[in-house]
Amino acid sequence: MDTDFFKWDVVYNTNIASIDTQHKVIIKILNELYDVVLIDKQEDKLLDILNELVQYTIYHFEEEEKLFDVYGFTEEKEHRAEHQDFINKVKVFGEKLEKEEDFLVFDLIEFLKDWLIEHIMIADQKYVVFFKDKGIIV
Ligand code: FEO
Repeated sequence: MDTDFFKWDVVYNTNIASIDTQHKVIIKILNELYDVVLIDKQEDKLLDILNELVQYTIYHFEEEEKLFDVYGFTEEKEHRAEHQDFINKVKVFGEKLEKEEDFLVFDLIEFLKDWLIEHIMIADQKYVVFFKDKGIIV
């Protein structure tokens, strides 16, 4: 089943092909998480898909951070801190899940969606503007 819980929109574009592709993969995995857990009710698969999402997101963050290093993005420190904050928060959800503490899966999925929308639309767009100003992207 494909519910498109989180639909790609042109406003998320960075116009950096590799980054847009990675963002789309993250959204695809999040949609899979939503479908499998909340639609198909296969909660036993939650941890595996969550791990996949976290691993891929960490890879994506590292790819962005490489670009920051190469092109001298001036707000790199703040941006890296946002990435780390996301990883820390997801880790807390993962620990709760492993301990089988009571929490609403929907809260986790909503957190992931809200965080990603805000980060892609605000923080990521800051380096897009920087790269455009420097003529690195058009
Ligand atoms: Fe696309 Fe800064 O994450």
